[in-house]
Amino acid sequence: MDVDRGVPVMAGAGLPRTRLSRLVVTDFRSYVRTELALDGRPVAFVGENGAGKTNLLEAISLLSPGRGLRGAAYAEVARDSGAGGWAVAATLETETGPVRIGTGIEPVTEAQRSVGIRSRAVRIDGAAASSSGALAQLLRIVWLTPAMDRLFLEGASERRRFFDRLVMGFDPSHGTRVNAYERALRERNRLLADEVIDASWLGGVEDQMAEHGVAVAAARIETLARLRGAIDAASDTHFPRAAIALEGELEAALGNTPAVDVEEAFRKRLAQMRGRDAAAGRTLDGPHRMDLIVRHVAKDREARLCSTGEQKALLIGIVLANARLLATRGEPPLLLLDEIAAHLDEARRRALFDEILGLNLQAFMTGTDPVLFASLGARAQTFRIARGAVLQTA
Ligand SMILES: Nc1ncnc2c1ncn2[C@@H]1O[C@H](COP(=O)(O)OP(=O)(O)OP(=O)(O)O)[C@@H](O)[C@H]1O
Ligand SMILES: [Mg+2]
Repeated sequence: MDVDRGVPVMAGAGLPRTRLSRLVVTDFRSYVRTELALDGRPVAFVGENGAGKTNLLEAISLLSPGRGLRGAAYAEVARDSGAGGWAVAATLETETGPVRIGTGIEPVTEAQRSVGIRSRAVRIDGAAASSSGALAQLLRIVWLTPAMDRLFLEGASERRRFFDRLVMGFDPSHGTRVNAYERALRERNRLLADEVIDASWLGGVEDQMAEHGVAVAAARIETLARLRGAIDAASDTHFPRAAIALEGELEAALGNTPAVDVEEAFRKRLAQMRGRDAAAGRTLDGPHRMDLIVRHVAKDREARLCSTGEQKALLIGIVLANARLLATRGEPPLLLLDEIAAHLDEARRRALFDEILGLNLQAFMTGTDPVLFASLGARAQTFRIARGAVLQTA
């Protein structure tokens, strides 16, 4: 492979269009209080195991809707010997100027901690936002973590979550719609478990599921088409080409049937299947069962049957195609790449760095050894992390 043939770094490309210029984490996991000034170059967090590198990526990931890259409960990320509250604040540089964003929870009582607090506060330029969904309107964050090395090997739910995060990049309301669908789904399951036979009550909940479910599936197939286009258009990438497909009844039906008809058919199916679903203890049809199917085109093999490194490379290829697409729309995502460098051979590592620099987006990477980032040299901003503190920057 010709390692010098990566995407050229555009001279004078300037700073990433969307980027964090300041990050402050308070009482967050291993951090009492840490403030980072970020200059727009890709960021490398370097330090030994347990130093606090992933904690910083997790803090950044909470600047988007949901529970962040570890999927942790909000009370859990509070520093063990702190008061129980935590905060992540940042300055986001945008086309129209800086925006101050912040999120966190107030100190909680033991009782609250044990039941798990469900929501966190979000502030945008000092004003309270109604939910973390507001963050999706401002910035897009995509991550790859070592836990995702098993993405193609485990159940569909993680793949679905991964894909839905990509959808959210194009359609900030997607997360809200997924939540609305899942709320209705839980309600239906509860009614069936309680043997509620009030057909109008169940019918109302199923109406909600059908309406939100079709909207969710429609957003997914729209993103699928965009991503396929971006993957096909990527001629100058060192990452393997992925053939991606969605396996889901609504997603398939929307390909050749008007949305209103798909919605009606789904509503009828839910009504018909109440007995079966009550017996199963859960709803067996719907977009909450959707799966993302990925094939390695060159190897003509399903991703789950590829080598660990090939699976990782496929994932990176998909994430980069997505990033390229968003960058073209003037909305580059932030990339959080946990321990990515360690998994790649030298040629692929350089290729990844070149693509990140070429795309002019802000990437945050972690590694235990500074050598992993040596080829980036001064093109990256490096922070040394040790025992929950940022020791030195280069
Ligand atoms: N709520 C918490 N309060 C205090 N410390 C915590 C909390 N949660 C996690 N930690 C600690 O944070 C430390 C750093 O974790 P982190 O996952 O960021 O390390 P890392 O630098 O990514 O290490 P590795 O290279 O092994 O991935 C760990 O020692 C962990 O025990
Ligand atoms: Mg880590």
